[in-house]
Amino acid sequence: MAKQAKKRTTKKTAARRPRQAPKMLSDLFLETLKDIYFAENKILKTLPKMAKAANSKQLAAAFNKHLRETQGQVKRLEQIFKMLGKPARGKPCEAINGITDEGAEIMKDFKGAPALDAGLLAAAQAVEHYEISRYGTLRTWAEELGMQDAAKLLQATLDEEEATDHALTELATSVINLEAEQEYRDAA
Ligand SMILES: [Fe+2]
Repeated sequence: MAKQAKKRTTKKTAARRPRQAPKMLSDLFLETLKDIYFAENKILKTLPKMAKAANSKQLAAAFNKHLRETQGQVKRLEQIFKMLGKPARGKPCEAINGITDEGAEIMKDFKGAPALDAGLLAAAQAVEHYEISRYGTLRTWAEELGMQDAAKLLQATLDEEEATDHALTELATSVINLEAEQEYRDAA
């Protein structure tokens, strides 16, 4: 008897719940696209500050080069929104806000210090790794959803992010080590 009563209550609750279409991979794809669109726009605002702050001319040049690439990456995302018939709109991404906040903190705390560039490089690589993770996922989902043109655009951006990451690693081992040596000599 008790069991029957419980069953009736459950049925009543379920009936009151508004009907919602099940969330599909295409919904997740759109949400993640909004996430990375927000992230790229945030990076567009951050890179000029990082280029201005960098001690090394090579590092500043690398940031400026990536700024130009990022402008193209934003356009690619806008093309994908268009393919989906959706407006290009970002969704606040706490991950990129956190990474860029850390970068801003380094710029403030290490202003004028020899270790500033090492800190800027570390912050920039954290950004790249976040983007590489997101674009890899989006490319795979686009393929699974049969969106070959979108997959190609996402792959093109992924290639740029990976090339930037490699360039930053090169800089980390050349320019930054030189600066560290200078710092060592100055202190001796
Ligand atoms: Fe990017």
